[in-house]
Formats: sequence, structure tokens, C-alpha cells
Amino acid sequence: MSKITAAITGVHGYVPDYVLTNKELETIVDTTDEWITSRTGIKERHILKGEGKGTSVMGIEAVRGLLKKTNTDPLDIELVIFATVTPDTVFPDTANTVSDVVGMKNAFGYDINAACSGFLYALTTGAKFIESGTYKKVVVIGGDKMSSIIDYNDRTTCVIFGDGCGAVLLEPNTEELGIIDSLHKSDGSGRMYLHQKAGGSARPASVETVANGEHFVYQNGKPVFKAAVSGMADGVSKVMGRNGLNNETLNWLIPHQANIRIIESVAGTLNFPLEKVTVNIHKYGNTTAGTLPLCMWEWENQFNKGDNIMLTAFGGGFTWGATYLKWAY
Ligand code: UT7
Repeated sequence: MSKITAAITGVHGYVPDYVLTNKELETIVDTTDEWITSRTGIKERHILKGEGKGTSVMGIEAVRGLLKKTNTDPLDIELVIFATVTPDTVFPDTANTVSDVVGMKNAFGYDINAACSGFLYALTTGAKFIESGTYKKVVVIGGDKMSSIIDYNDRTTCVIFGDGCGAVLLEPNTEELGIIDSLHKSDGSGRMYLHQKAGGSARPASVETVANGEHFVYQNGKPVFKAAVSGMADGVSKVMGRNGLNNETLNWLIPHQANIRIIESVAGTLNFPLEKVTVNIHKYGNTTAGTLPLCMWEWENQFNKGDNIMLTAFGGGFTWGATYLKWAY
């Protein structure tokens, strides 16, 4: 019997309507469109507005679109994994809310928190359930409402992040298409450079933590930048090497969208042509766990069956990795 691989058989995304431009940010903090564009590549980002609306709102839209376009009955989904650092609530998991609202009543589900690498980790986890023959239909979601943890008085972070979400369907494949190889890494010694100081068990929410702004994203950008370039370039290069891929046979590189300078440095380190690198950071900013599926959604029509595609991400933790897949449709 031929080996079972986990193939992505559909992808869909959702970004909220409201567009926060660099021009508008100029009226909120001491910044300029020129600084943001030249230092990050970002022109605008989408923001989820509305009282009581959490990340699940975007996940629900992405999954509804995914199930519709793949003609999948929600009752056939067996597992839902949601990668996010901005769950609707600390518990229950947002995967459960999405499953309930979309009608995936036969699925069990849970969230994965690996910051910007969350989708990559979740994809591998979902794939293992398919490869083992345990399940036949798994939904993997990645997305964040970063605006819920951003301090719009802090110009070093508020210009970078946006809200958005994407989802893929994983199904078994016996034609050697789908996810072929993954490399994942984490290094907790990097945790001080990118984190949320309060709201967890070490420092629960209090009047003081709120007054200090400790529920917002804290980032020391330079060390994160450096580690992101080396981590992603190293991950991609190792996965390419052990799968016999070169810059001609790799059709697409899909990197996490944190900063255009990081993306260009990763491509430069690998000597990989930029025209085969997906870039949409100018439109969405950094949507954390949403960047990879949002790229796949946007480039879906340009991918061909059998294309060699490399996903790579780096984020808080530190967490990082690379996943090689063969596009299945
Ligand atoms: O996705 C998770 C992983 N995250 C990342 O990969 C992010 C990695 N880091 C970065 O992308 C970059 O470090 C940033 C975009 C966050 C910052 O860019 P930078 O080139 O490293 O700038 P910097 O922090 O060194 O700041 C340079 C100057 C500073 O002013 P002084 O001290 O030189 O006077 C900042 O205060 O730029 C200033 N600055 C700004 N100026 C205008 C910082 N943010 C802004 C801003 N507008 N928005």
C-alpha cells in the first residue's frame, strides 16, 4: 500500500473590512508613511472593529469559505486546530467556538500557541493525524486579532501588526503530494525579546498590570530581526538540502510576513529569486499566525499541482521552522 501523506486540498482566508493606513497612523503616533514603508514594507493593515468580536469571528469566516469552496460537510470534519496568540478567551479554546458556530459538531479541537510559527506547528500536528490514518478531514486555522494586544501609543509595535486569518483543509493523499518534510525549532532563551508581560499565571491581570500597559505586545525588535533571518534561512536551507531541492526546483517560498527587510534578507541569504517569494505584507502587516495561510490563499491560483513549496516562519518564544510540501491541486 502506498504511503499516506497529508495534502492541503483547499485554503481560504479572511481579513476584516477596516483598513488602517500609514497615513492614519501618522495621526495617532509620531511616525511617517516613509519610515513605516522603508523600515517594514507595510502600507496598510486590516483591523477587526466591533464590541465583543474576537479572533473566532475571522476564523469562522475563513472556515465557512473553506468548507464551501471544497464542498465539505462540516459534520465530516474530525479535528480542528487553531493557531493563535489572541484566543477569544484564555479558555475555552477558540477552536471549540469556531467548531460550534460553523457546525463541525463531530470534531474535537484545540488551540496551539506558538506565536508567528503557530500555523506551521499546527500544520505539522494536523498532518500527523492524517499520515497515521487516524483522521481523513482535518481543518488547520491560523490567525490573530493583534489589534487586541497592541498599544496604539507605541510606535515601535503599532505600525507592524494587523488582524487576519486563514484556514486549510488537510486530507489523505497517496500520490506523494502534500506535506513532505518539516523542521521545527524553539529556544525559550529568546522569550525576553518578544512577549506579553501580564495576563498569564505568573502575572495575573490586576489594576496595576493594566495601568502599566503590561497586556500589550512588548518587542525588542533588533535581536528578533537578527534571529528571524538566521532561523528562517537555516530552516529552509536544511529542509531543502535533505530533500534534494535547489533554487530551480523549489517553485515557491512562502515566508512569514513580519518585515520586508527580513523577507529580502532570508531570500538573499539563500540566493533565492524574489519573484518566487510570496509577499503581501504591504497590505496586511504582520498577522502573526495568519500570514502563511493568507499567502497561500492569495497565491492559490498561481500554484500548480506538484509545485514544490516551502513555508517558513519565526516568532515569539523563540519559535521557528520550515515545512516542505507538494501542492496537491
Ligand atoms: O513576527 C514576529 C517576529 N517579529 C519580527 O520579526 C520583527 C523584527 N524586528 C523588526 O522588524 C524591526 O526591528 C522593527 C520594524 C521592529 C524596527 O525597525 P528597526 O530598523 O530595528 O528600528 P529600531 O528599533 O532600531 O529604531 C530605529 C529608530 C529609533 O529612533 P532613534 O533611537 O534612532 O532616534 C526608533 O525610535 O526608529 C525609531 N522608530 C520609529 N520612527 C518612526 C521606531 N519605530 C518608529 C516608527 N516611526 N513607527
